[in-house]
Amino acid sequence: MSITKAEELTGMKKVSAAVALTLQEMRHYARPGMTTGELDRFGERILAKFGARSAPRLTYNFPGCTCISLNNEIAHGIPGHRKVMQEGDLVNIDVSAALNGFWSDNGGSFVLGEDIHHHQPLVDTSKDILKKAIAHIKDGVRISSIGHLIETTAKKAGYTVIRNLTGHGIGRSLHEAPTCIANYRQRFNRERFRKNTVVAIETFISTASTMGVTLQDGWTLVGNRGGYVAQHEHTIVVTDHTPVILTEMNGIWG
Ligand code: CO
Ligand code: CO
Repeated sequence: MSITKAEELTGMKKVSAAVALTLQEMRHYARPGMTTGELDRFGERILAKFGARSAPRLTYNFPGCTCISLNNEIAHGIPGHRKVMQEGDLVNIDVSAALNGFWSDNGGSFVLGEDIHHHQPLVDTSKDILKKAIAHIKDGVRISSIGHLIETTAKKAGYTVIRNLTGHGIGRSLHEAPTCIANYRQRFNRERFRKNTVVAIETFISTASTMGVTLQDGWTLVGNRGGYVAQHEHTIVVTDHTPVILTEMNGIWG
């Protein structure tokens, strides 16, 4: 959406606070031995307190309130009561919701407890890339140039990017124009970021893969060449200068 009125900005700030604080509280609540189903229920109660409703459930009838992906799962992991999180797991939580007709989206990967499998460098690189990408976005910047920045920065650090998972416009629905803010340079994409547009910027940085492949369950994505993926996501408003980060209080950069 493009923000044209003060009420729209207020609405976007409200739903963004709901998804950001839910993500933050879920990350703090996660413990080794807990199931992702339990963590999802906890998140659902927080969203409900804000009066917000799960975006993936409303939009896609997703079988969970939030997406929780563990280890080799790279996105859209289904929370479950048999999926137990372990010390050192790479966990991704993605929370998106609707409130009073406004929609916001954010997510983050982190290492649960002690980093016994050495996932932290991947997580840190993904965080740094999101920071860098957002810092470069302003009115008139080509979407493909941000993709180029993400891809080249990942490459320099020894990582690949997932090409078929992207950031997207958001605001009046979960996914809207511009629909494809890729993690690589799409040569034929001539679209530019425009002032007042609300977009969700998300990294998909991988140790090995370049594509996400859907599992038999119809939801869970894994990498085409295995390995691990870290994702960090903020919903922002494009301006003439530095963007307004609506989901900043999720603390994923902390
Ligand atoms: Co998103
Ligand atoms: Co998301």
